[in-house]
Amino acid sequence: MEERIVSPVPLQGEREIENSLRPKNFAEYIGQEGVVKNLKVFIQAARERGEPLDHLLLCGPPGLGKTTLAHIVAQEMGVNLRSTSGPALERAGDLAAILTNLQPGDILFVDEIHRLPRIVEEILYPAMEDFALDIVIGKGPSARTLKLDIPAFTLVGATTREGLLTAPLRSRFGILSRLDYYKTKEIERVLERSCRVLEIEAEAEGLTRISSRSRGTPRVANRLLKRVRDVAQVEGDGIITPEIAEKALDQLEVDHLGLEGLDRKILRTIVNKFDGGPVGLGTIAAAISEETETVEDVYEPFLLQAGLLQRTPRGRIATPQAYRHLGLQVPQEGKRGLFDE
Ligand SMILES: Nc1ncnc2c1ncn2[C@@H]1O[C@H](COP(=O)(O)OP(=O)(O)O)[C@@H](O)[C@H]1O
Ligand SMILES: [Mg+2]
Repeated sequence: MEERIVSPVPLQGEREIENSLRPKNFAEYIGQEGVVKNLKVFIQAARERGEPLDHLLLCGPPGLGKTTLAHIVAQEMGVNLRSTSGPALERAGDLAAILTNLQPGDILFVDEIHRLPRIVEEILYPAMEDFALDIVIGKGPSARTLKLDIPAFTLVGATTREGLLTAPLRSRFGILSRLDYYKTKEIERVLERSCRVLEIEAEAEGLTRISSRSRGTPRVANRLLKRVRDVAQVEGDGIITPEIAEKALDQLEVDHLGLEGLDRKILRTIVNKFDGGPVGLGTIAAAISEETETVEDVYEPFLLQAGLLQRTPRGRIATPQAYRHLGLQVPQEGKRGLFDE
């Protein structure tokens, strides 16, 4: 996908460093307090009963810590984690092979679980419910179904698009955890921790500046931290000061809300070409030559979160904050959307 600096998905070559920064247990995992509190209880209860944890669905925008949390749950349960993803499981046999090879109590982590092919998903139903596989032997009238037991396991699914999950799949998860964008203070703590791990020297205010432009997303924060460190090293004495942070982030064209060129382009398009909206997502996407799905998955969630964009039944509208952020006059009540009436 795109290689933009504020992308919530990992960029080329970023996975390794990401693993080194990944919190390994609950004590290191910052924020998401409600989710963590619940999970701790469920984990303790399951351990005391000597049972596997209930199936767990982790929902939320990319970069907020779903994969991290899946690994922590495995670690805290004291079990192995086997990792795969919806698109990687093409045939029913792919999943059946993984399931039969699990150890009792293991966690199967399925990332992007909303992208599981239907035939694979159907294998999961009896697996999740009864720890069994229904295997069809033979073809035509002589075909019969064989029930095969598999080890009791925990499915941990992660999705950025909760709404795309089918009802039968969703209903088989006992625990649903929704991750939300982090507060600026929490991102500061993420950055402090990363500085310790990466041995980066920083002033508190320097980290605050990075945090406020990180879109409430740890992955973005860690990426910006590394870029700012480079500037501090080359143009300063290696310490991240507020001045260095501001300078580096300006050079990267990440504005004070954490928006980048394309985010602003989306807002400007709605304001200038569509009179502030309402305008359909497909129309916006076409106007900026992007895929509708990319706009919906990658750009829109944060614009909504930041209160710059609003969803209405008739389409997206730019909020007064969006006008102000673009340095434009907020149109008077009743003057907006005339184009559309
Ligand atoms: N709660 C957290 N505390 C500290 N760092 C975090 C936290 N959540 C995520 N991170 C950092 O952000 C990166 C991306 O997290 P990840 O779990 O891969 O997100 P997701 O799977 O939701 O896209 C991780 O490498 C980790 O360093
Ligand atoms: Mg992930």
